[in-house]
Amino acid sequence: MHYIGSKEKLLPFLKREISHHVEGSLHVKSFCDLFAGSGAVGRGFNEEVLHVSSNDVEYYSYIINHAYLKTSSLKDYTHQIDELNQLALTQGLIFKHYALGGGEKRHYFSDENAQKIDAIRQHIELWYHNQSIDKERYYLLLATLIESVTYIANTASIFSAFLKNLKKTAHTPLYLDALHVRENREENRVYHNDSNTLIKELQGDILYLDPPYNLRQYGANYHLLNTIAKYKPFKPKGKTGLRKYYSSPFSKRKSAYESLKNLLESAKFKHIFLSYNNDGIIDNNDIEKLMKNLGKYEQVFQEHKRFNAKNATKNYKTIEYLHILKKFR
Ligand SMILES: C[S@@+](CC[C@H](N)C(=O)[O-])C[C@H]1O[C@@H](n2cnc3c(N)ncnc32)[C@H](O)[C@@H]1O
Repeated sequence: MHYIGSKEKLLPFLKREISHHVEGSLHVKSFCDLFAGSGAVGRGFNEEVLHVSSNDVEYYSYIINHAYLKTSSLKDYTHQIDELNQLALTQGLIFKHYALGGGEKRHYFSDENAQKIDAIRQHIELWYHNQSIDKERYYLLLATLIESVTYIANTASIFSAFLKNLKKTAHTPLYLDALHVRENREENRVYHNDSNTLIKELQGDILYLDPPYNLRQYGANYHLLNTIAKYKPFKPKGKTGLRKYYSSPFSKRKSAYESLKNLLESAKFKHIFLSYNNDGIIDNNDIEKLMKNLGKYEQVFQEHKRFNAKNATKNYKTIEYLHILKKFR
């Protein structure tokens, strides 16, 4: 899944630096991914560490991370996906608000795909409601739908707006593909909370922080994924059909620095790694000063081709810093 700020491509760099800076084997260490997003980092470390804790304030992200980190059995998964792929079209909430046929002039999906999403989403709910599937499988199937939807949406990758004419991939019929999920051990944890609230309850070995670094709010850019995940009636707002969304203090100039400071001070982890971009709201020197006050500090960086939502085929280069802190006890 294309995700703003995804660290998928930076994983080799992160793995190299994190294993280099943490003494001893990673296999006996706990790893916490506090701003998990698409889950690329938690997933990447899942097999390298003792267990992973993952958190994100967005509900769609919680579902995705739950699917990848908490699924303990894949029994009947592909069979269920086959069944969902064969459902007859249904006109529901997504068709009504987000396809032209619904009459509200929004064009996020083809009429056919919107009806497929409605059919699949309603069927997953029905299965859960009549106890044919448990919560773990409910999240896995929802995550499968959420990821599949991102490939056939009529958008420039994010959902802040739709395209006027249906693009080629949006014509392609929606088809659920099984996620590459492994059967997980029980110790992994997945949270759906505000980072600065949750941090007070956590402790462990390695804390990986990847907060938003610019003014773009994830809740606005991915509102439709939350709508599909929640699937409750509501009144979409304006031309783009936004829902009410969470506004992160890390994406505001007046609160980003204080939020980071508060987070770092509260963290009960020995090793803290913070990814932050050179174009970020918080100045690099300020991060350095802040961390030096809390322990032993180092900084490494890597050039990175950033995903550009406006022009997904044209990436541009930026520098990704990894701020490394070994906290004083
Ligand atoms: C840069 S992205 C993380 C990308 C992720 N590392 C990946 O590889 O996909 C930042 C994430 O932080 C989440 N977020 C923003 N504010 C938050 C907060 N206060 N608490 C928890 N998560 C937050 C956003 O929903 C978003 O998914």
